[in-house]
Amino acid sequence: MAYTIPETMLAVVLAEDGATPEVKRIPTPQPGVGEVLIKMYSTPINPSDLAFLKGGYGIQKEYPAVPGFEGSGTVVDAGKGILPKLWMGKKVACAASPIYDGCWAEYMKTKAGMCVPISKNISLDQAAMMFVNPMTALAFFDVYKKLPNTTKKPRGIINTAAASALGRMVIKMGQKQEIPVVSVVRRQEQVDVLKAEGAEYIINSSEPDFEINLKELAHKLNATVIFDAVGGSMVQQLLNAAPKESNLYIYGRLSEDTCEINPGNLIFTGNNIQGFWLTGWLHSKSFLQSVLNTRKIQSLLGKELGTTIHKHFPIEQINEAIETYKNNMSKGKVLIRLGE
Ligand SMILES: NC(=O)c1ccc[n+]([C@@H]2O[C@H](COP(=O)([O-])OP(=O)(O)OC[C@H]3O[C@@H](n4cnc5c(N)ncnc54)[C@H](OP(=O)(O)O)[C@@H]3O)[C@@H](O)[C@H]2O)c1
Repeated sequence: MAYTIPETMLAVVLAEDGATPEVKRIPTPQPGVGEVLIKMYSTPINPSDLAFLKGGYGIQKEYPAVPGFEGSGTVVDAGKGILPKLWMGKKVACAASPIYDGCWAEYMKTKAGMCVPISKNISLDQAAMMFVNPMTALAFFDVYKKLPNTTKKPRGIINTAAASALGRMVIKMGQKQEIPVVSVVRRQEQVDVLKAEGAEYIINSSEPDFEINLKELAHKLNATVIFDAVGGSMVQQLLNAAPKESNLYIYGRLSEDTCEINPGNLIFTGNNIQGFWLTGWLHSKSFLQSVLNTRKIQSLLGKELGTTIHKHFPIEQINEAIETYKNNMSKGKVLIRLGE
């Protein structure tokens, strides 16, 4: 089937770091060798997008740039190569290429290898959120399983900012695998929501006894594998609570504050602290493992790895969409609807 592709398209354009995103009409890109053009359907706003808008994210692009790291749509044009031709006409989940404009546009050009055709039972909205958080949830359990267990006792996980889309996936995956997950949130409303969803161990960091409660539970559950998305003072609080020989992975910086830690918490405890970035983890996987992971995610999208959607906005209301997301992160994802 031949598609009519307009010469220009609407896109969210960022003029420079920290600029207010603007909706502009720009030329529709053309796919080259090994690439496809996707008529975009939907794309979420994630914390990584907010970091990209500000500048200082792990992926930087030449300005002016179109933001957006993941989305979904239909492949409407294919460059040379077997994979692009195979994907032609297919509905896909897609990730933006680090060197091209991103998903917040009516059309996006990307590598065919960064698209996955989706099964019929998956909605294009869920497909739009298939890479960043579901893949990270799989990665966390992969990291957990590969860490040598020097304690020889069953281990638990601690995760912070746990009312997030990712936090809820980690809770459900932990339940399925019978791995206890301690979810740290910052508001009572989040405790109530997670409890209603079946989470067993929830701790509110705003409570006066937060550190005492966390330490007690961390030791009871031998929760030595810790994932932190908050940064700032949370890192020292986690180290204070951690059993000896814990591994702390910092994967987010939601508080935006610098972390100051007591060196004794590393020197005398056998604790380790390091960063986690999905991009690095993906690079450590073979092509086959990545294909198997995307299949696994598709099979779990309606279950453990599904994402709650709060609201949809048209592209013209991008700044309202961003504000709505920033002020209601725990209510679910805000999606930009780009097409039919
Ligand atoms: N390193 C990686 O490769 C990687 C991959 C995927 C995700 N991530 C990170 O994972 C985290 C969750 O992502 P997501 O898309 O699942 O998020 P999300 O669904 O948009 O939710 C964000 C959550 O963070 C909470 N939050 C915001 N600011 C906070 C702060 N200063 N202190 C404590 N909690 C705060 C929000 O609570 P309120 O409602 O109270 O604001 C909300 O529950 C983000 O930090 C993201 O960058 C990292």
